[in-house]
Amino acid sequence: METITRIHTMRERIAGWRRKNQSVALVPTMGNLHKGHVKLVARAQELADKVIVSAFVNPLQFGPNEDFDKYPRTFEHDTQALTRVNADAMFHPGAFEIYPMGHERSTLVDLPEISGILCGAYRAGHFTGVATVVTKLLNIVRPEVAVFGEKDYQQLVIVRRLVMDLCLPVEIEGVPTVRDHDGLALSSRNRFLSRGERNTAPKLYLALKAAQKRIQDGDTDYAAIQQNGMKTLEAAGFEPQYFAVRQANDLQPPRDSSRELIILVAAMLGKTRLIDNVQVAVVEKR
Ligand code: PAF
Repeated sequence: METITRIHTMRERIAGWRRKNQSVALVPTMGNLHKGHVKLVARAQELADKVIVSAFVNPLQFGPNEDFDKYPRTFEHDTQALTRVNADAMFHPGAFEIYPMGHERSTLVDLPEISGILCGAYRAGHFTGVATVVTKLLNIVRPEVAVFGEKDYQQLVIVRRLVMDLCLPVEIEGVPTVRDHDGLALSSRNRFLSRGERNTAPKLYLALKAAQKRIQDGDTDYAAIQQNGMKTLEAAGFEPQYFAVRQANDLQPPRDSSRELIILVAAMLGKTRLIDNVQVAVVEKR
């Protein structure tokens, strides 16, 4: 498994593969790889001949009070993990390679409305940073397919939207969330949880499952379901930011005609921000 740091080297390598008619998948990450990322790579390997995993901690998607400096950089661990799963290359650029004029002066990819709701309401500028770096990575690699985790569901919807709006010739593939034995969604940030917080953390998923069951049982009082989710999490020791039932395709509030919904949550547990979601189909009334 080769580690590539320069855009021109990445492009040369891809051109060689293309000459042999080999297709390319991209798995964008910020490194600190866990079993969830391994699933993304496995799915990418099913979809393309060559798999590139980018590992770049993107400064543009962190707010001034967020954990950019603290974000774990685990290069050795990541290269070993990618070698074990037979990825073809890791793209590991420095900040100057991606933002030659500095990230503060970068051209931006900004999606109105959808970037400002849910997580975007609590993390100003975050999704503009994500959309900008994902667009750059897609332009550098020009893969046939790019693979993202469903755990960052709003990110996935935003990436699908930018690909559509900017007419980018790439398929976006979502992969279901990988969970620990007790239901906690795997995340690079779980390592910041104390032992007590780690015991509490799966209650986030339990609250989502309870809301999912109510909808599966025919309850369409989404306001009450959301309120109950917030209260349950507060009682368990979280500081919930939102507990929201939305349409799965565009994250708008459900309408009478909506069939595919998603329940999304973000909550602070101590100093750690956790997010999760579950999908649910609305039962047809006879
Ligand atoms: O999900 C992530 O790890 C990041 O937001 C991404 C998509 C790699 C962009 O930096």
